[in-house]
Amino acid sequence: MLIGIMSDSHDNMTALEKAVSYFNKQNVDFVIHLGDIVSPFCFDLLDNLKMDFIAVFGNNDGEWLYLKEKSKNRIFKPPYEIELDGKSFVLMHEPFGLNNLSAVYDYCLYGHTHSIDIRKTKRGYIINPGELCGYLTGKSTVAILDTFRGSAQIVNV
Ligand code: NI
Repeated sequence: MLIGIMSDSHDNMTALEKAVSYFNKQNVDFVIHLGDIVSPFCFDLLDNLKMDFIAVFGNNDGEWLYLKEKSKNRIFKPPYEIELDGKSFVLMHEPFGLNNLSAVYDYCLYGHTHSIDIRKTKRGYIINPGELCGYLTGKSTVAILDTFRGSAQIVNV
């Protein structure tokens, strides 16, 4: 299963649109956003994703109720656990207890720091896709995780 991972889009609609069209073009099976979407209207763009999508709230996501509504209930309070392709995932915005969590979950995904972090663990990976907005680093990045091959990579969109 191919999973597209993004975080910290911070209302950068151009970058968000690039990520959406990249994930659609790659035909990934599932997309995860790790928080700091910020404005509910971003879901007008995220709705163009052809595959299933979920997100977690970040510290800059203030309008929880409206975000929840616009997302059609696809945004959750972190840490949020899911299972995809028989693998366990924990989705966070701020990273908490990564070392402990990586012993329990196959994939520990977080954002918030705006820095890329891809680390192989005994079970799988710790992944921060970096910032989609590009405000701090000048680079809009996402990650692609292949649960079949057990590989992950960062992509500039
Ligand atoms: Ni944040």
